[in-house]
Amino acid sequence: MTEGEYILGSGEDELARLALQNRLWGDVSAQTFRRAQLQMGHRVLDVGCGPGYAACDLANLVTRYGYVFGVDESKTFIDRANSLAKATGIDHLTAKVGDVQELDQVLDGQEPFDFAYARWVLCFVPDPDSVVRGIANALKPGGRVAVQDYFNYRSMTLAPRSRSHDIVVEATARSWLSHGGDPDIGARLPAMFEAHGLRLDDVRAHLRVARGNDSMFAWPNTWWHTFAPKLVAMGELKQSDCDELIADLKKIENGEGFVQCPPVYEFLATKI
Ligand SMILES: C[S@@+](CC[C@H](N)C(=O)[O-])C[C@H]1O[C@@H](n2cnc3c(N)ncnc32)[C@H](O)[C@@H]1O
Repeated sequence: MTEGEYILGSGEDELARLALQNRLWGDVSAQTFRRAQLQMGHRVLDVGCGPGYAACDLANLVTRYGYVFGVDESKTFIDRANSLAKATGIDHLTAKVGDVQELDQVLDGQEPFDFAYARWVLCFVPDPDSVVRGIANALKPGGRVAVQDYFNYRSMTLAPRSRSHDIVVEATARSWLSHGGDPDIGARLPAMFEAHGLRLDDVRAHLRVARGNDSMFAWPNTWWHTFAPKLVAMGELKQSDCDELIADLKKIENGEGFVQCPPVYEFLATKI
């Protein structure tokens, strides 16, 4: 893996995890799109769109009078986004392979956008400032951007406290940092917005607590089942700690305690 390459890869496990994640966070994204005053006919940019699950939601909201353009570095994800749009009868969504740190090039020839959305992307890129600059350049004056991403990631924890979980959270933060990402990216966004002419209108945090029988438990549970083995393969986590973590998660699934999920921060800004 090279620096900056998406640390979770684009295998079937990650495709399935992203689909589930989009469903579990659908209530939050729907509220965000309402707060951003997204309308029928709007042109939308989905930055780091992955396999296009949110891009399809956005395309349904702007209707065929609008347009959604998705960008992602993974060809597998982009192919999936385009085929998902086709299979669901959405012909006003186009997804293209590209680096979100070079949006000016990727968007060459595109008309300005009314709304840009970047969810769980900036925490993975080595140069988030260039992404914010590209978004600002791509928006119409008065256009809006919503970013949903992490801050205070390390506050994720299990109750009762779990040794293995503390270790795996630290290993995760370390692995993102060593690939150029930042699990605390949210803290840096307000200054980046200001530097690129984006007026910050609203900041809020979404903190989820999940017991074993809550749907939301599937979010941390699939995350660790997908990512902890990858941490072992990267040499960031011992197999015995991975096994202990899976056993601790099983206890929660069986009704012993709960997970405090990592807080998802939401930033809404307007191009001035
Ligand atoms: C956690 S996924 C989120 C996908 C989508 N935004 C969502 O909410 O479902 C992170 C995505 O960022 C993409 N990504 C990471 N770095 C990128 C870069 N430099 N350029 C383009 N896409 C990137 C990955 O390929 C992946 O699809």
